Amino acid sequence: MHFFDYKGKNFYAEGVPVEKIIKEVGTPVYIYSHKTLTRHFQAYDQAFAAVPHLVCYSIKANSNIAVLKTFAEEGSGFDIVSGGELFRASKAGADPRKIVFSGVGKREDEIEYALKSNILMFNVESPQELRAIDKIAKRLKKKAGISIRVNPNVDPKTHPYISTGLKKNKFGIETEDAFREYVYAKNSLKNVVPMGIDCHIGSQITQLTPFVDALKKTTDLLARLRAEGLDIKYIDMGGGLGITYDKEEPPHPSKYGEAVMKGTKGLGVTLIFEPGRSMVGNAGILATRVVYIKQGTEKNFVIVDAAMNDLARPSLYGSYHAIKAVKANSKNEITADVVGPICESGDFLAKDRIIPEVKAGDALAVMSAGAYGFSMSSNYNTRPRAAEVLVRGKEFFVVRKRENLKDLIRGEELVPAVKKAAKAVRKGAKK
Ligand code: LLP
Repeated sequence: MHFFDYKGKNFYAEGVPVEKIIKEVGTPVYIYSHKTLTRHFQAYDQAFAAVPHLVCYSIKANSNIAVLKTFAEEGSGFDIVSGGELFRASKAGADPRKIVFSGVGKREDEIEYALKSNILMFNVESPQELRAIDKIAKRLKKKAGISIRVNPNVDPKTHPYISTGLKKNKFGIETEDAFREYVYAKNSLKNVVPMGIDCHIGSQITQLTPFVDALKKTTDLLARLRAEGLDIKYIDMGGGLGITYDKEEPPHPSKYGEAVMKGTKGLGVTLIFEPGRSMVGNAGILATRVVYIKQGTEKNFVIVDAAMNDLARPSLYGSYHAIKAVKANSKNEITADVVGPICESGDFLAKDRIIPEVKAGDALAVMSAGAYGFSMSSNYNTRPRAAEVLVRGKEFFVVRKRENLKDLIRGEELVPAVKKAAKAVRKGAKK
């Protein structure tokens, strides 16, 4: 469910014509819908209203601070994976007691920053990390809340790059090892407090079964840990619920909620979720203008001003994003590759796609681009990163300015000219 649609021939973001935004802000531009964001948060919150729960929006999906603030105002917590994301969360006014810190490679400075910020807990991904957190917490005279991220060896049936809960993946600790680590932490580590079990098996998951299977393994471990005297209060189910890009029919959060609440009934735990994509994916579009149309002998190419540096997903995962005309002027359709200006054949937004007939200067909306869109963008080919706009009702706000040419070389330095340096050496030799 989202609030992007046609009114007559014009494509709107909530109450604002997309054409109006791009006339003022230019292209490419990411456009987010405030109403869609809050609606998605509420869908999760309501799905779990009957039990203690905490929704920790996964910042990596879309880390713009205006988006984070929208969620913080709704009462959302946050799932972070770096010191940078913690900084963003604090700038957006997040409550640190609603922050969980995931990721396999947390550095010492990041752990220290998180401990000093008094976050709720760390999702620990290796025995070495567990010991590192204990050591740093001891130095800071703090107690660190922890969950161990369990790798349940469940196949989430999604793209291999975004499947994380299998033995061959780098994430988490296998259940038996996790059990030993919990007991070790309880008996031997004085500055960590085991308080939860964490499990995230992958992303863009469109069925309930993998979640239910992973949950079963988690609750089995919970029972064993409690029998050992560990006071486990939280089960963190991670993120992963898929969205509709094309024809997928992922379960609604309420159905997911029913399944999770059934699997945790009577356990007296607080449930944590780390949704990313399902909160922001369909709440954002990428608007772009057609630069040229090129008719090849085998294919039509619609060359637009957005590229793989702006939206990497099609190139990286072969993923599908629907493409719509911002002004529905033509009833005719063409089959084309929609490509960007980057010097790689892998630079495409859509391949062999039937789209409305367009001409140079027309604008297109690349749908479902709110998650892992801007947050994965880069400056490849020295392209300024896109602007970001948040629409709220009939108003819109530029929440990130388009980068300019100066931004592109910020922090870069020239080295002294070689000739001058050589002269100086010769002068020195004469002395
Ligand atoms: N929690 C953890 C520990 C994660 O690693 C992730 C995503 C999430 C939560 C949020 O998962 P979500 O609800 O968004 O599925 N760039 C890829 C997706 C990478 C997902 C990485 N981890 C894409 O564009 O499809």
